Amino acid sequence: MTGTRGWPAQLSAGPVQLRPPRLRDGPTWSSVRIRNERWLRPWEPTSPIAWEQRHATTAWPPLCSALRRAGRAGTMLPFVIAYGGTLVGQINVSNVIRGAQRGCTVGYWVDGDVAGRGIVPTALALVIDHLLGPEVGLHRVEVDIRPENTASLRVVEKLGLRREGYYERFLDIDGGWCDHLAFAVTAEEVAGSSMLSRLPRLPVTPG
Ligand SMILES: CC(C)(COP(=O)(O)OP(=O)(O)OC[C@H]1O[C@@H](n2cnc3c(N)ncnc32)[C@H](O)[C@@H]1OP(=O)(O)O)[C@@H](O)C(=O)NCCC(=O)NCCS
Repeated sequence: MTGTRGWPAQLSAGPVQLRPPRLRDGPTWSSVRIRNERWLRPWEPTSPIAWEQRHATTAWPPLCSALRRAGRAGTMLPFVIAYGGTLVGQINVSNVIRGAQRGCTVGYWVDGDVAGRGIVPTALALVIDHLLGPEVGLHRVEVDIRPENTASLRVVEKLGLRREGYYERFLDIDGGWCDHLAFAVTAEEVAGSSMLSRLPRLPVTPG
């Protein structure tokens, strides 16, 4: 299932599946996000709305619709991450720019209960291969990470993304303007190969 610009799409490797968000994800998304407040909050955009309210089941339909609208418009490629068929996170491609740059930014999170299994490196590899492949046709993918986020730094290290720069006071995260390290990859760096093949192994199947 692919659109003209590669969304909607379903991507998978072993037990990790990426698919567009859907309205019936609301209850699971809400409970995972609320349970993971302490795990996620340090890395999330600042918001004046309380966490529980922002992640109530009723918050999902407008968010899901906005994500899907952006996906159809080609400004984003929003995906949920399923592991063994259960929603455990999201990986969103944002800031899609066409024209001479043909680039984008990728952000992600996963349920702390399944962290450390290589789920996000697999999801990021799938997404990058899709973005740089013929269906989407982008040239450059960027991931921006706070220097304090050692777990996320490991994700880009595992895939061999190039460190490109240091952005001061770049994003408004968890109540303040936070510096970020920028990592990137361009199509030339994976030509004739794939990001997925850079991973030594896929996550084990749950259960
Ligand atoms: C960053 C994140 C997406 C990594 O996803 P993941 O699927 O766990 O990635 P990995 O399995 O490759 O683990 C990466 C590193 O996390 C660390 N880690 C592993 N298990 C962990 C756990 N239970 N708790 C905390 N950190 C853990 C390890 O350093 C690991 O590196 P290693 O494999 O060399 O030991 C995940 O930690 C997360 O969602 N964090 C909160 C939100 C966030 O930081 N988003 C990214 C913003 S840039």
